[in-house]
Amino acid sequence: MTTTIIVVSMPAPPQRLFASDNASGIHPDYLGAIAQANVSHELAYGDDRFTPLAVRGFSQLADCDVDVLFTFGGTGSNILALAILLDRAESVLCTEWSHIAVDETGAPERILGVKLQTVVSPDGKLRPEQIESAAHALGSIHHAQPGVVSISQPTELGTLYTVAEIEAICQTAHQYGMRVHVDGARIANAVAAMGATRDVFRAMTFAAGIDALSFGGTKNAMLNAEAVLIAPQYRGRHAQYLHKQVTQLPSKMRFTSAQYVRALSDDLWISTATAANSSAQILFEKTKRFESLRIDKPAVNSLFPIILDPAKTKLQEWSFFWDWNIDQNQVRWMTSWDTSPTDIDAFVAGVAAVLG
Ligand SMILES: Cc1ncc(COP(=O)(O)O)c(C=O)c1O
Repeated sequence: MTTTIIVVSMPAPPQRLFASDNASGIHPDYLGAIAQANVSHELAYGDDRFTPLAVRGFSQLADCDVDVLFTFGGTGSNILALAILLDRAESVLCTEWSHIAVDETGAPERILGVKLQTVVSPDGKLRPEQIESAAHALGSIHHAQPGVVSISQPTELGTLYTVAEIEAICQTAHQYGMRVHVDGARIANAVAAMGATRDVFRAMTFAAGIDALSFGGTKNAMLNAEAVLIAPQYRGRHAQYLHKQVTQLPSKMRFTSAQYVRALSDDLWISTATAANSSAQILFEKTKRFESLRIDKPAVNSLFPIILDPAKTKLQEWSFFWDWNIDQNQVRWMTSWDTSPTDIDAFVAGVAAVLG
């Protein structure tokens, strides 16, 4: 086997990474909110001044009386949401790309003891027919009973469900007594891409009929701030006990809730996601000219180009980004709320040096 080595002199790498929005910094306003919450002592576990304000803010946003549970991370949010929605002997239906099935180290299986039933999905989206098909197992003692449908908005492949598609999923799932969870680790990016209004958020979540939402903040400029929103019809399913039992009850909750108070006060959460999405569009416009790169227009803040080796490895060594679908030489480039035009130009200069 021969190895091709690329010998090119590379420009300076961008200051900020295109690996993940998890790599980004914290918005100064959230640091300010944390500083404000740091002045007094406050009781722990949500009995502070900030948490009720954040809970009220979320109910206004959702336009219904949601239960709000703040958590440490996105995986923890998903586990907690599923713990609340699941009944005994039930399984979770999700796609083969879903974060819960692929990137959570088997945490749902280990912590909840639940079976995840993955369905094939070339675009990361789950379809009502797949729920219909899984529903055949209902009533059979030999099969885990499909109890929760979990979808991600946006999906792990950067695609978006339309409001009508989410409504159809909820309708089909509910018809069989199943509940619907949305992994919204990047729900802000979906909202930003689909109109950037509170109405859009409502339409794609609780008005569409979903039962629980993992509402992400960490990837969107906040510091370790995630929340689970539970629809009114599923309040009281022992949520507060499960919160602690799955190890997601923060004692100093005020530092999370204070950030959400800030985020919801003027919808900073939508503005930061809009900035991240716009940077992805600019990166696309500036890289689509490279003939050896196959790249599609992004819907949110992620791009999934196909780059062949040795160019791929050379670029990853220079400014790291993740492989996504190794079999297809597909990688992921991701922009963040704080990605600057200078970062984009520096990244494009590196791509040009290797591919141009
Ligand atoms: C779609 C999706 N869901 C959930 C998570 C979980 O986030 P965390 O790493 O905070 O557990 C991620 C993280 O990348 C994600 O991309």
